[in-house]
Amino acid sequence: MAACRMGRFLAVFGRISRIASEQRLELALMGADLGLWDWNLETREVVINDRWAEMLGYTLDETQPHYDGWARLVHPEDLPQVMAALRGHLQGALPFYEIEHRLRTKTGEWKWVLSRGKVLERDGKGRPVRAAGTHMDISVRKELEARLWMEHDQLCHAQRLTIAGELATMMAHELNQPLSGIANYVGAAILGFPGVWRTEPELRETLDEILRLSNRASDVIRGIRDLVRKQTSEPEAVCLPTILGEIFSLIRHDLVRRQIAPELQIPPDLPRVWGHKLQLQQMLLNLILNAVDAMQERDKGERRLTVSAEVNHDRELTLRISDTGPGIAPEIIARLFQPFVTTKRDGIGLGLSLCRTIVDAHGGNISVESRPGMGATFTVTLPVGEDVTRHAN
Ligand SMILES: Nc1ncnc2c1ncn2[C@@H]1O[C@H](COP(=O)(O)OP(=O)(O)O)[C@@H](O)[C@H]1O
Ligand SMILES: [Mg+2]
Repeated sequence: MAACRMGRFLAVFGRISRIASEQRLELALMGADLGLWDWNLETREVVINDRWAEMLGYTLDETQPHYDGWARLVHPEDLPQVMAALRGHLQGALPFYEIEHRLRTKTGEWKWVLSRGKVLERDGKGRPVRAAGTHMDISVRKELEARLWMEHDQLCHAQRLTIAGELATMMAHELNQPLSGIANYVGAAILGFPGVWRTEPELRETLDEILRLSNRASDVIRGIRDLVRKQTSEPEAVCLPTILGEIFSLIRHDLVRRQIAPELQIPPDLPRVWGHKLQLQQMLLNLILNAVDAMQERDKGERRLTVSAEVNHDRELTLRISDTGPGIAPEIIARLFQPFVTTKRDGIGLGLSLCRTIVDAHGGNISVESRPGMGATFTVTLPVGEDVTRHAN
């Protein structure tokens, strides 16, 4: 049975190589890392190669050489799209069949494959008789994508929390003053007019109530501030090149669209910094996105984003994020790191204030140098303690 299949498979291989060379896949085929399938639409029989079966944890003999056997392995959530892609090609609307979908493995897990194929023969009426194609295992790439999205979500969540924290701190700052004013005035009134309370006990009760409520309002604000400020993550030895790599993966599409190729100048032996990974990531993401935004009006060829890092003798790590945008608008440069300072139509103006809060919390410093009409450079210094070097090794 296996020998017979092998003979047929060689014939199939020849046919598939023809399509494959059309699709410039021949090299990958030679590497034999592609699963191959050849489907007879009249008999519904499907011939596959070892790799096709092995990708799902089967041996060739354990698989059913039939269309229904294949269809049963496709993830139910992917099945409608798979069928639509297949129909699209079989009916001639699409030049070839190509789709990423999941298949059930022998152990019941799901494996992502990129499935490609093409009709090889049609009958006199143009109905497809035979189609063949390949499976490529793309599980690793899919896993990586999923992990990136998860980190993206975490980052967004952390960002929202930090913004909430920043708002709560500001609110607390703004409201504490009037609230303690109220408490002081009411307290002074209660103490200052003792004679009145004997004749007007209800007035005294009212004042007591005002005092109680204003104290309660202060407590509530303090509570919210403490709640959102609470750090869930423990500090760790953070590798900045890794963080930068993750950020650039996250915003890859944006950078490609805007034709910005970031230039990284990072020494290979850069020590780690001790801190909160998500916060540092957020801080760098804000600075990088600001730089990207700033270059919007520049001609595409003149958009340059540079991120450099170095460590000086005082064991201080310096990061620089430079762009070739217009520089910082003079009217806001003095207040740049304060909340709600923005020149963007849809800006919130919290990014740089968050950056400063994060850098401060890490015992570092952030500053900006603006070259009007030429660009801006944000410089962040972070301490690199002895502990950290030890952790990095
Ligand atoms: N790299 C940069 N080049 C020019 N201007 C910048 C740059 N980074 C920040 N700015 C200015 O600082 C303002 C505040 O930035 P930010 O706090 O991140 O808030 P937002 O991005 O929401 O406006 C921006 O609106 C912009 O005017
Ligand atoms: Mg911003």
